[in-house]
Amino acid sequence: PAPPCTLVIFGAMGDLTKRLLMPSLYNLAGGGLLDRDFRILGVDHNDNTDEGLRAALSEALEAFAKDPDSEFHTDRIDPQSWGFVRERIHFLKGDFEDPALFAALGERVSGNAVFYLAVAARFFGTVVEGLGKAGLLKQTEDAFRRVVIEKPFGQDLESAKALNARILKCADESQFYRIDHFLGKETVQSILAMRFANGMLEPVWRREYVDSVQITAAETVGVEERGGFYEPTGALRDMVPNHLFQLLCMVAMEPPNSFGAEAVRNEKAKLEEAVRPVTPDDAVRGQYTAGRLDGQDLPGYRDEHNVARDSTTETYVALKLTIDNWRWAGVPFYLRTGKRMASRRTEIAVLFKPAPFRLFEGHGVDPLTPNVMRITIDPQHGATTELNVKVPGPKMRIGRVRTSFRYADFFANQPNVGYETLLYDCMTGDATLFQRADNIEAGWAAVDPLLKGWPQADVAFYPVGSDGPEEADALLARDGRHWLGLD
Ligand code: BG6
Repeated sequence: PAPPCTLVIFGAMGDLTKRLLMPSLYNLAGGGLLDRDFRILGVDHNDNTDEGLRAALSEALEAFAKDPDSEFHTDRIDPQSWGFVRERIHFLKGDFEDPALFAALGERVSGNAVFYLAVAARFFGTVVEGLGKAGLLKQTEDAFRRVVIEKPFGQDLESAKALNARILKCADESQFYRIDHFLGKETVQSILAMRFANGMLEPVWRREYVDSVQITAAETVGVEERGGFYEPTGALRDMVPNHLFQLLCMVAMEPPNSFGAEAVRNEKAKLEEAVRPVTPDDAVRGQYTAGRLDGQDLPGYRDEHNVARDSTTETYVALKLTIDNWRWAGVPFYLRTGKRMASRRTEIAVLFKPAPFRLFEGHGVDPLTPNVMRITIDPQHGATTELNVKVPGPKMRIGRVRTSFRYADFFANQPNVGYETLLYDCMTGDATLFQRADNIEAGWAAVDPLLKGWPQADVAFYPVGSDGPEEADALLARDGRHWLGLD
């Protein structure tokens, strides 16, 4: 198990706590990974009691277990595992801006503590300062004090730098665990294993053999009830400098000298620094209009709840990235993400250069069709490689095949909602999967010219259930390339 500690959750009644933190703690308890002296202190500004909070969180857990669309969908909640977590939950009422809350916390927290900020981003700085002023971030030989910060970390480079400067006045960098939930996805972590635990891939993973890379996070969901958050945010801020950059780092970083947190994060930082800041010429913003998806007629973005009728917020973004380093010079990385697209698909596709000599000209499919390796992250976890082979028969004809594997075919499915590893790692003090201040700032720096110089009106439209706007096809067509299909 992880060392004993108190997990203080700011935002104990919030969606994140109910949907992800509690199911993850339940799974960790099921795996015997929580210490007997582990304890949860939930902070919220509404009145409640220990029993009241326990009952509310139990009810939420059961609802997610029943929901077939939830990551936590299960036939049965193990009473022992949930009981272990449930009886360790305690409640503390308080206002995040009130020093009295932090004084009260001082009375309740001793020894190891992880402070989890499951709160709106505007409170991040305030809560960290409150903790700092109350002396709650002072570590001793026997007691660690760590702070977990959710996304969004800033809205641009300037605000991210300001927030980093503000929190780093209160505690040391090593005490901050900035979360990007994409790093909690099993397959994202296994990209490093695929690259660096196999001798056959790494030699060809470079500009001499790779033509281009496509990173896609296509979603079928719309903005749902999050219009208020999404309107000033948009797809670029919501997904690119954070989630898509994590995928970019995994696929493009150099091998670290070890799997230690600093070694891995140094290599990520080097890669991020090599990304040339993207200008509007290399980017397309899109917004969905009414259309049909999975047999349902769905409204356009402007008709969603809490969205302006003339909104120009982008729900789709496509970019071409250039990486100025030895390995990737001249290899474009195309990134795209959007809501309400034809299908749900998060993947990295590495497109290799064609065979150098046209030995099989005129024998079936264009023999120069390059090999593609697709590493799929959602909804299937696996990988597919497209190869050219001989079609059986007396004539020499070339055909295209796919070899694939799915994790589920080889490994037992571990109960996982995506936060188990992240929570466990911050209790054990392993920061490998968390963002350092410089990683966060480098992500924002790469998209800074877009945030500053992109005319708001410059938004292309795409119908719900499509692969995105035509302008995004043009972005690749001008380089003689096209997006891979999403089916
Ligand atoms: C979140 C974004 O961080 O990531 C959401 O705010 C997005 O808008 C989500 O839907 C995507 O994550 P996942 O794990 O569902 O691919």
